[in-house]
Amino acid sequence: MRRIRSPNRQEHLDRRGFLRATGRLGLGSLMVAEAATLADCGGSAGSTTAPDDAGAGLASTVTRPPEIGGGTLVASAGSQSVWPGATTTVWTLGGSFPGPTVRVGRGAGFSARIENRLSEPTNVHWHGLASPPDMDGHPSDVIAPGQSRDIAFPIVDRAGSYWYHPHPDGRTARQVYGGMAGFFIVEDGREAAIGLPSGEYDVPLAIQDRRASPDHSLTYAPGPMDLMAGVLGDTVLVNGKPDAVLPVAATLYRLRLLNGSNARVYRLAFGDGRSFQVIGTDGGLLERPVSVTGVDLGPGERVELLVNLTQDPVGTSILLRSLAFTVPGGGMGGGMMPGMGGGGVAQGTALDVLRLRVERSGRAARVPDALVSFERLDPARAEGTQVFVLSMGMPPVAGAFTINGQSFDPRRIDVRARRGRLELWELRNASSEPHPFHVHATSFQVVSRTSGPLGAQDLGWKDTVLTWPGETVTLAIRFEQYAGLYVLHCHNLEHEDAGMMLNLEVS
Ligand code: C2O
Ligand code: CU
Ligand code: CU
Repeated sequence: MRRIRSPNRQEHLDRRGFLRATGRLGLGSLMVAEAATLADCGGSAGSTTAPDDAGAGLASTVTRPPEIGGGTLVASAGSQSVWPGATTTVWTLGGSFPGPTVRVGRGAGFSARIENRLSEPTNVHWHGLASPPDMDGHPSDVIAPGQSRDIAFPIVDRAGSYWYHPHPDGRTARQVYGGMAGFFIVEDGREAAIGLPSGEYDVPLAIQDRRASPDHSLTYAPGPMDLMAGVLGDTVLVNGKPDAVLPVAATLYRLRLLNGSNARVYRLAFGDGRSFQVIGTDGGLLERPVSVTGVDLGPGERVELLVNLTQDPVGTSILLRSLAFTVPGGGMGGGMMPGMGGGGVAQGTALDVLRLRVERSGRAARVPDALVSFERLDPARAEGTQVFVLSMGMPPVAGAFTINGQSFDPRRIDVRARRGRLELWELRNASSEPHPFHVHATSFQVVSRTSGPLGAQDLGWKDTVLTWPGETVTLAIRFEQYAGLYVLHCHNLEHEDAGMMLNLEVS
């Protein structure tokens, strides 16, 4: 069913699906925003040299969150300018939305103090990193309001783009939606030796959709519909800004993209259909760059791209978009349902993500042929198989979201894994929704998808993989570092909070 497709060919389909979605919304302000989007994809080129392209009047320049190596991360409510001309109450870890980017070297120690100044429990999970069980932010291991927690663990993972966010049982979606999440970048010498774009040419970009409510708040008020599809926004924020513009030079860029959204899947492509190179996924660099014109990114996943702007004249704007797609099997869709709560636009609606605006000339640069070598887990050598059936019923029935028929119970151990043992994990999506499956404590490699070939986002070391309705995704997985209690779960945060999570005991 699902293939890697050419975004160019899809453009027409997109527009139709898009009009349908727009028509259904019937909201004045949204219509304006979407009309601007439509104007952009009219004509053959998604890049333009018009100096004042659509939306530029309201555009926000993408900024980088501050960088830290550790230290104190305060969880607190504060205010920040998210939408121009408005002040928004945000919940932050470390004072900014998104949170500060942690940057550390592989082999170094990471230490931080988490101070909870919220009025509810929280904790922090280091997504994708191997951390000891008492440092990992298990959903039951929370920091009470007014308390703090000291974190210290060695960085054993490969260089890559990881992230952190709260993980308290039943409260994760609300806290992440409010603004609590940031990048956690690991560096090492092998990566540095490749000579990839660095410094200002290496840009971490957190992609998160939100609802531009009339008061521009980040109030989290999911309705019944939202609990099925997850909370889907109507506006894409990049590093906390809507209508985001990244001023660039005409050179080669490394973009580290994080899908930090609660529920939205992005089908990323450039407006002019140009190809780009995927160089890394969740757990660091691939063996070599993979040239594509589009890549899917589910909640929790990361992908690193090289984008060549050396041929783009000063004044050009290149749009990064999420193309329209249909969820196989229909899906609940999400979006506005009168009386059911919600807001936001349906899963699969075309959305603008980011505009790269070439403001100055730059240096010639080339894409390296090779990146790093790493161990390939050989599925033929697996010592056992575990099956995970992902399903859902209709809320408000308790236990509507399940893995192997179970809804999360902190007192029950559901899954056991032995360190050093290579296993195949079969993820069977038996529901009508996409589920991004995430495992703590280790990384895995994707072996196959029954719905078609692997996408570039599936390559390399992964900690989160998107499963589409009706398909089975097979992983090769081996735990290594620590024994203890962890979790695995769906990274649609509404699904996770509704119980689509199991306790995992590693021995
Ligand atoms: Cu990013 Cu258990 O989560
Ligand atoms: Cu995680
Ligand atoms: Cu899910």
